Amino acid sequence: MHHRVFSGIQPTGNLHLGNYLGAIRNWVGFQDRMETVFCIVDLHALTQQPAAADMQPNIREVTAAYLASGIDPKRAIIFAQSRVSVHAELAWVLSCHAPLGWLNRMTQFKEKAGKDKDVAVTGLYTYPVLMAADILAYRATHVPVGEDQKQHLELARDIAGAFNRHYGVDFFPLPEPEIFGAATRVMSLRDGTKKMSKSDPSDYSRLVMTDDADTIALKLRKAKTDTEPLPEPGTSFEAARPEAANLIGIYAALSDQTRDAVLTQWAGQQFSGFKRELTERAVAVLGPIGAEMKRLLAAPDHVDAVLADGAERARAIANPIWDEARRIIGLS
Ligand code: AMP
Ligand code: TRP
Repeated sequence: MHHRVFSGIQPTGNLHLGNYLGAIRNWVGFQDRMETVFCIVDLHALTQQPAAADMQPNIREVTAAYLASGIDPKRAIIFAQSRVSVHAELAWVLSCHAPLGWLNRMTQFKEKAGKDKDVAVTGLYTYPVLMAADILAYRATHVPVGEDQKQHLELARDIAGAFNRHYGVDFFPLPEPEIFGAATRVMSLRDGTKKMSKSDPSDYSRLVMTDDADTIALKLRKAKTDTEPLPEPGTSFEAARPEAANLIGIYAALSDQTRDAVLTQWAGQQFSGFKRELTERAVAVLGPIGAEMKRLLAAPDHVDAVLADGAERARAIANPIWDEARRIIGLS
């Protein structure tokens, strides 16, 4: 089976440290080993009903984040989902192989829809089918994402299997989730039980990829902790001290160490000193990326050219796969 990597991020603004550590950073290394396709999933973003005027700036922001993080547009394909019509067409086909029961199990829908499911839009519910189509449109084999996407990937595998079985083919590979690193689930800086997210109303809940050094320092100084010193390595403290666990995980990821290695150095010490060192590491990693993003966005011609070229290359892969799928299905 030909190896191919696919992943994507929604252009909904406020790209944050969780997006970087849980996803983008892990994509970079794949470029040397496999064909890589990185999408800006604008159709997914519509589930949040964004203003039209926000769409293009947000698409450029995500593109700039990919480029500034080391995704090389000469090797990787970088493009916006809606520029390749196969995603939406294949999503319809796959929806006809995805039982309601499978979608009803999706925990992210339950969280995002809230109490009154009747007013949640249909797209929010069927979104994991579109995500399966994104991946299968390229017959991708590896999908690097954060922990929160694991269930959606399992669904994509199930849908691929259902399609293959129905038509008696071995057409879609079952995509492998690639969830690795010390920070696969970065939590809010204000509440260690909540995921760091683009939509949290508090700016202090997240480090965004364009924060400057002063802002990073301020947000980390204000980050919630408890009054205990840092714990000993090898003890289980995570459940009782979620904020401590989160900062230790971030520190480990930013300094390419294991959590235990971080604790071996810091056990018994106060969070104040730890936070100062954490700030230095965060500034060292995010500072250059944020500066490069701002440079790219100040004159977005390069970003736009990357997207145009990427869309063409993406279509060159997806269109023949769609043609073959249509033959399998009997549509041609
Ligand atoms: P989204 O912001 O929902 O479009 O997510 C884009 C990518 O970032 C996906 O691979 C997510 O799994 C990942 N991601 C989002 N939030 C976090 C987080 N708090 N921690 C780790 N990964 C995250
Ligand atoms: N659902 C993902 C998220 O919100 C984004 C996404 C859409 C994606 N299509 C994808 C991720 C395909 C990986 C592969 O984080």
